[in-house]
Amino acid sequence: MTDTKYTVAVIGGTGPQGKGLGYRFAKGGHDVVLGSRAAEKAETVAEEVVERLGGADGAGRVGGAANPDAVAGCDVVLLAVPYDGHDELVASLPLAGKTVISCVNPLAFDKRGAHGKVIDGGEGSAAESAQRLAPEATVVGAFHNVSAVGLWEDAEYLDEDVIVVGDVVEAKEVAMDLAASVTGRRGIDGGKLRLARQLEPFTAVLISINRKYKVHSGLRITGLEH
Ligand SMILES: NC(=O)c1ccc[n+]([C@@H]2O[C@H](COP(=O)([O-])OP(=O)(O)OC[C@H]3O[C@@H](n4cnc5c(N)ncnc54)[C@H](OP(=O)(O)O)[C@@H]3O)[C@@H](O)[C@H]2O)c1
Repeated sequence: MTDTKYTVAVIGGTGPQGKGLGYRFAKGGHDVVLGSRAAEKAETVAEEVVERLGGADGAGRVGGAANPDAVAGCDVVLLAVPYDGHDELVASLPLAGKTVISCVNPLAFDKRGAHGKVIDGGEGSAAESAQRLAPEATVVGAFHNVSAVGLWEDAEYLDEDVIVVGDVVEAKEVAMDLAASVTGRRGIDGGKLRLARQLEPFTAVLISINRKYKVHSGLRITGLEH
């Protein structure tokens, strides 16, 4: 576990994934600003998270703000918005100099269930799009496979691993640190940013497992004990 505490802006912080990750980060002692297109909505959801924290020992502060204001006050930005509209939003945010974590899964659903969307003809991913649209930010991918339902539940930690991908080690370290608030152990360095092309659509497999077995499945990586 790390002692480093971050201030994290959660873009799309009013949705289940952003709210859930914001709650876990705050519970782990990090300060969180939930972002929204509507500041008032963000403030209402922030109050809900504060209530959920119930004055937990060592919890970070939680507030709400319009997305650009949330970004301006933080060094770390989590993108937790749907893929539809993602590019326009990312291009509009003041992300230069920030460490940006994307958990965005470009998924589609049809009669056969969830599946990954093909991004840039198979040569891209949401995380890589974010990096292209915000070249002065450092983008990493993480938290793609963590279910919002589990994040909001009572278990102290989720029994799963967070895989982090990116091209800059220092930025990956930030996401790996934050993962400890969610799983009780640091995230796992999964390699370069382009591997988001594998992590993002893999969530479709977990959704399929969830439907089949009526569970909230997650990923565990074995063999790292030494
Ligand atoms: N849900 C999960 O279990 C889960 C698990 C892993 C990864 N993810 C990924 O995490 C991301 C968020 O998931 P979610 O289920 O929380 O999504 P969501 O509820 O559909 O959306 C999250 C928030 O994004 C904002 N938003 C929606 N459309 C937007 C647009 N066109 N432009 C800007 N902001 C927009 C909304 O906030 P405002 O209206 O307040 O602006 C909304 O509350 C997705 O990419 C998803 O694939 C989700």
